[in-house]
Amino acid sequence: MKRKILAFVTALVCLCLVSNFAEAKSKGKKEMKKAILLVAFGTSDPEAVKSFENIERLTKKRFPGIPIKWAYTSSFIRKKLAKQGKVFDSPELALAKLAEEGYTHVAAQSLHTIPGAEYDELNAVVVKTQNYPAMFQKLELGLPLLSNYMTARKVMAEMLKQIPKDRKAEDAVVLMGHGSEHHPSDLIYVAVASILNTMDKNVFLGTVEGHPDFDDVLADCRKNGIRKAYLMPFMSVAGDHAKNDLAGDEEDSWKSLFKKAGIETKCVLKGTAEFDAIANIWLDHLQAALEKLDKK
Ligand code: CO
Repeated sequence: MKRKILAFVTALVCLCLVSNFAEAKSKGKKEMKKAILLVAFGTSDPEAVKSFENIERLTKKRFPGIPIKWAYTSSFIRKKLAKQGKVFDSPELALAKLAEEGYTHVAAQSLHTIPGAEYDELNAVVVKTQNYPAMFQKLELGLPLLSNYMTARKVMAEMLKQIPKDRKAEDAVVLMGHGSEHHPSDLIYVAVASILNTMDKNVFLGTVEGHPDFDDVLADCRKNGIRKAYLMPFMSVAGDHAKNDLAGDEEDSWKSLFKKAGIETKCVLKGTAEFDAIANIWLDHLQAALEKLDKK
């Protein structure tokens, strides 16, 4: 299956190269035709799609007139959706199609939270494509959400504003990030947790698949004598991890583990991309990528 897809993409790329070359020969340099490619991990949860719809709405509003396409980096999610008849392209395929459709300048925007494994793979695809100048005159990639220290502070400040107003200062707020145990970017969540903690001593961040983990967060809650905690996902979508690992009824969900530890919980299940203020930080990165397209 993978081979077939690869052969298909290669064929598409070849087609683009040939047609672009022929066109370039006949007309000289092509007129600028811009597109935006939004690239997310993906989600198969129909409710979690709200996050992506919000990003698309804000993208249209901020960059009117530029066509918007989507790609999902997770092949697992793409396969799952394909079985339901919903076809989403990989970044490679989406870029090949854009070249085939005659787009000359493309800004791809990573909707990932950290520059982790998924972003690395996307970046590799972008670099590979940039090495085929016949594909696009310009292709730029926008950075993920937590791209540097000052941006991380801004994101966290906005996150704090999303905490329900009925939360009292002695209540904890626990954010659940994804984490990526075997990737250097796992360190980013540790940094972000410490930034948060300087902003509010009862706000903690843990991750499902990396560090800090649930035990770290629980230890912090115990140290501060926490009796009640608001649980919020810190992921672009409130999908499977938010619904099951954070707020599910299984005995190993964070909600259940807190209950077992004698801490009352309240779950607020919204993806970070549902908050306009945070979605707009991704779009600041897209704007930077679009500005690069205009530079010689
Ligand atoms: Co996951």
